[in-house]
Amino acid sequence: MRWPFRLTLTLVVTLGLLTWAASSVARSVMQTWFERDLSLRAELAINGARLALVNAWSGPPAEAVGSLLTEIARDERVLGVAACRARDFSRIAATSGFPATFSCEMVGLLVRPDGPNGDWTTWVGTDTKAQGGPVHVTAAPIRSNGDVLGYLILVHDLSFAARREAETKRLLLIAFGVLALTTSIITAVANRLAWRRWTRELRSSLDGTERPEFHSVMQDVRALADRIAADRDIDRDVDTWTPKRLREAISRHFNDGEVIIVANREPYIHEHDAEGGIRVAHPASGLVTALEPVMRACSGVWISHGSGSADREMVDARDHVAVPPGQESYTLRRIWLTREEERGYYYGFANEGLWPLCHTGHTRPIFRAEDWRQYQIVNQRFADAVVQEAKTDSPVVLAQDYHFALLPKLVLQRLPKATIIMFWHIPWPTAERFGICPQREELLDGMLGADILGFHTQSHCNNFVETVERYLEARTDRDRGALVQKGHRTFVRPYPISIEWPVLRAEVLPPVTEARAVIWAELGLGRDALLGVGVDRLDYTKGIEERLLAVDALLERYPEFRGRFTFLQIAAPSRTEIDRYRQLSQDVNALVKRINERWSTKRYAPIIFRLEHHEPERVYQLYRAADICYVSSLHDGMNLVAKEFVASRDDDDGVLILSQFTGAAHELTEALIVNPYDLDQASDAMAAALRMDRAERRTRMRHMRTHLAEFNVYRWAARMLLDAARLRRQESLWQRLTTRSTPVL
Ligand code: F6P
Repeated sequence: MRWPFRLTLTLVVTLGLLTWAASSVARSVMQTWFERDLSLRAELAINGARLALVNAWSGPPAEAVGSLLTEIARDERVLGVAACRARDFSRIAATSGFPATFSCEMVGLLVRPDGPNGDWTTWVGTDTKAQGGPVHVTAAPIRSNGDVLGYLILVHDLSFAARREAETKRLLLIAFGVLALTTSIITAVANRLAWRRWTRELRSSLDGTERPEFHSVMQDVRALADRIAADRDIDRDVDTWTPKRLREAISRHFNDGEVIIVANREPYIHEHDAEGGIRVAHPASGLVTALEPVMRACSGVWISHGSGSADREMVDARDHVAVPPGQESYTLRRIWLTREEERGYYYGFANEGLWPLCHTGHTRPIFRAEDWRQYQIVNQRFADAVVQEAKTDSPVVLAQDYHFALLPKLVLQRLPKATIIMFWHIPWPTAERFGICPQREELLDGMLGADILGFHTQSHCNNFVETVERYLEARTDRDRGALVQKGHRTFVRPYPISIEWPVLRAEVLPPVTEARAVIWAELGLGRDALLGVGVDRLDYTKGIEERLLAVDALLERYPEFRGRFTFLQIAAPSRTEIDRYRQLSQDVNALVKRINERWSTKRYAPIIFRLEHHEPERVYQLYRAADICYVSSLHDGMNLVAKEFVASRDDDDGVLILSQFTGAAHELTEALIVNPYDLDQASDAMAAALRMDRAERRTRMRHMRTHLAEFNVYRWAARMLLDAARLRRQESLWQRLTTRSTPVL
């Protein structure tokens, strides 16, 4: 029940009770008044006639007394009068209306000449014989010279008192009724006025002009409402976000559930193989690892650069190919880039400019005007492709990563009803550092075309908001975590990315003991050997050199591991047209050589370095065979290798050593967290991991696996998509509330 109705009901009930109490009190007060009044009247009447009565008594009484009685009975309220002898209480005379119920004998029994009131007696009775109403009876002595000659009985009608009482009750009821009605009306009006005022406050709060005293309350209310709405959909059956549930959530919250992903890297690359055939390669890409299962779950179109040597041979006339090969469930749309476009947009602006800009990796960003031009062209081409692929005017567009900063605004201009979500897979630097980029305003402006802008961590979100505040004219709605530019609102939120769970690949792999046996044989390891693995693209942000130096330090500081511990580093060649990457390849090779020269024996080399692409099945086999996995990124948005290693260990074994500079370190807290620059600390952690007993390994691994099972990539996608759907609804409500001409009530 709403509070105004409750209040009114309470008032009415209270007034009803008061009416009842008041009428009871009034009744008894009036009764007393009437009785007193009648006693007084009787006294006056009898005293007024006393002399005449005494005289009449001395003569032949009956007649004279009778006519005096008739005189006294003229009063309209007197029912009857009777005169009695004192001697024997026999009747002398009585008026015609004197009730038969009362008699002189009765008076004889009641009066006591020595009683407290002299010998006056009054009582209230009922004329039972005539079935009449209540009566007031007075019996008074007639004295002469101190002697009681006789008694006069005066019977007054008391039924008028009952009539008065009923009348009073009715009046009281009417009065209280009017009072109740007035109170209800006043309450309702006050309530309405208060509601108006409240909505005005709400509106002004939403408007950003709220009064300071409501500020924190509004903040809490918003946060609470947000959390409840999000939790309702996200936290229902917390550990059960599955592809099916994601698919259902999308179709429930979005009209037709049309999803279009835009990502530079394609999930399946068709390559010519050495035998003249075509093989399918899976790129070494965290983005693909995360998003491919999502796309399998919700279908739609994935638009990306067709980079494989056999890609063109596999597409239809619209550059479409159905994937995954053999289990087709969504469409891959390939975009062909010219050499200039690829060089300028991908190698140049994205990977020589934005990549080092966003990573604190000690590599100087390079921004060339021509690269920027190509970046703009390619962003426009991908935006055009989104419009071509959209079957409706309101698709859900998931723009991925730093390759497409301009795309959200470009799509928004063409498809204003689209829901645009941009996820930035790499860190966002400080405002000061981002200021290095000559095109900073254009990039920020493009990104603000999105409805939701996702980063891995809150600190990346904070950096982004500060960057926009510094370089763009946009309003920050800090309470709602949004940036508002020219009326368009972009919500900036952390969404730590994850991997599919359970990992289908890991489920079909042979047991861990078998994986170990295969790898041990392949690498020629001794029976008591210990194996560490590192899995990366060859990138200077991954801290591969620091990792190898930590192995060096381990062998130096912990002699027990010499000849026994081997570290297998696999690295997928990456961005090989960029000098810095070629340089890195040389540096790592030289370092491996140097460390191996230092510690190798005839049958032992501490580091095995494989610079080649490894297919996911092979990577999972390595994870399962290893004793430890060291992820030593110097700066990393998330690093899904860490999560993949945990996912692969269904035997609850293996130890993860994780750089504190990865997004994953915020979640996988049971890993051994290290500063990769601190070689003593890193080598200590390696030693601790290699010495750790089975029980501790199991406990740590189980905790991390439980976390991943709950926070899988379906949940990650669902959170962003459902947030987008909810924020869209809130936006339209907000529009209505803040439109001043629209009545709120
Ligand atoms: O981490 C950033 C990122 O673009 C990822 O999204 C992707 O997994 C990885 O780099 C691969 O980069 P590229 O596509 O250039 O090989």
